[in-house]
Formats: sequence, structure tokens, C-alpha cells
Amino acid sequence: MAQYNRIGPYNEFETLTLKNDDYVFVLSGAGVSVESGLATFRDGDGLWEKHRIEDVATPEAWRRDPELVWRFYSARRKQASQVEPNAAHRALAQMEEALQERFLLCTQNVDNLHERAGNKRVLHMHGELFMSRCEDPDCMRAPFSDERYYETKQSIARCECGARILPHICWFGEVPFHMNAIMSALNKATVFVTVGSSGAVYPAASFVSHVKNSKGSGPTTIYVGPEPPDNAYAFDQCRLGKATEAIPRLFSLR
Ligand code: APR
Repeated sequence: MAQYNRIGPYNEFETLTLKNDDYVFVLSGAGVSVESGLATFRDGDGLWEKHRIEDVATPEAWRRDPELVWRFYSARRKQASQVEPNAAHRALAQMEEALQERFLLCTQNVDNLHERAGNKRVLHMHGELFMSRCEDPDCMRAPFSDERYYETKQSIARCECGARILPHICWFGEVPFHMNAIMSALNKATVFVTVGSSGAVYPAASFVSHVKNSKGSGPTTIYVGPEPPDNAYAFDQCRLGKATEAIPRLFSLR
């Protein structure tokens, strides 16, 4: 039965049985970490309700007030280090374990809960909270692991080259990371799943249409989250429910 654009409770949908040649692309958003205790961006108590984007997450914000930017990201480091992966993260790790190179997880999240659950094939398109880099684009130093907190001007670390260290985050107005690898995986996808993303931020919100448009009616596209996202029209199915309930029963893995 055709399931084009069906929207309903997750348990009304069948568990998908994957074929041997299926390639699964999963895009995750802030919603997958909600049940671990991390706030989303756009819900009532979301991060952008408490902070103006332009004050903390733009290149201009960094130039204007690096101390405020580091206080914001230091607080997020603290918060993210106090939570644990949930059942949805663990189910996605099992998916990767079963599918190996026929699976890719692209996340808009900067937390490391997917890795802590066991996923290795993860692309962080908006950066990584526990990494920093040199602010000088000409500096050869690669982004590096960094769990420290920088809360005052004096505590902001400096690179060996003398420039300041900034969080390894893709800010508003910047091109997301890993776009070549993401596009090549999207072009292979036969099953595309978005979990916990409002569909309000591009280019991630356009991935579902790209998969559909480049492959005709072939790929199956599924959204998982408690409410239909802004780009719900582009999905074959919107399985409404919490990530921890809907993701573990999405696929049967042999
Ligand atoms: N399970 C699944 N989804 C959930 C849950 C849950 N338990 N709780 C909430 N959600 C959904 C909400 O319904 C919402 O659609 O998660 C979504 C979160 O949306 P946003 O806050 O907009 O987060 P996201 O789409 O990841 O934001 C994209 O915007 O601000 C930038 O760079 C930031 O990566 C972020 C990007």
C-alpha cells in the first residue's frame, strides 16, 4: 500500500524490513537528545528562547563578544557532559552495527551522544561541542578535542600561533561541515530518516527533497518526532512520537 505523506502515531506504521542493497541515511536533530535531558532550539524552553542567535552563534557575535560566546558554549559543554545517551541513540548505534557501510548518520547536533552510544559513522554538519579550533583561517592547526570551560576573557585559550581558540561550531551564515560526504551519501540513500528536527534550518531541511528529487519515487522517506516538521510535506511518512519509542521499532534488523 502506498504510504505517501501519511502522518500519524508511530505505532500505526509497520516496522520496515530492509533489503540487502538498502542504504540508510539518518539525519538527526535536537529532538533525539531531548529524552537525555538536552533542550532543543525552537521549543518553548529551547536554547534560542534564552539567547538571541545573533548574540552567541554568528561570526559577528564572536568578533563582538568572544567571552559571551565562550560562556554560552562552556555552559553547553557542562550540560552535555552530565547526560547519557538514550534508547534512540542506542537503537541508531545498533542500526550501524547491523548495516555497517550501508549506513550513515548525519547529525545537526553538536553533542557527542551518538558516539557515546556506539555510532562511528557520524558526520557533525554543525560542528562538535567538545572540539575547538584556532580562529585564524590561515593557521595549519586542525580542530582538536577540548573539554575545557572558558568563562572569562583571560581564560580564553590561545593557539601556538597566538590567535584565540574558538568553539568548533558552524555558526549561522556559515557553510556546514562535511557537505561533500553528505551529498555523496544522500545520492546513495534508498531509505532516508529524519529524527527530531523542526525542518526549519537549511540546508539540512532540504535533504529529504534532494533524495526524492534525485531518485524519483524510489527512496522511502520517514520523519520521526512528536509533531510534523515544517517540511512534513516532503516525507512519505511522519511517524509521530518520541524518538525513544519510535526509533527502536523503525527497522527490523536481521
Ligand atoms: N523525540 C523526537 N523529537 C522531538 C522530541 C522527542 N522526544 N522532543 C522534541 N522533538 C522535536 C520537536 O518537535 C522539534 O521538531 O525536535 C525538534 C527540534 O527542533 P529544533 O529545536 O529546531 O532543532 P533542530 O531542527 O535540530 O535545529 C536545527 O538549528 O539552531 C540551529 O544549529 C542549530 O542544529 C541546530 C539547527
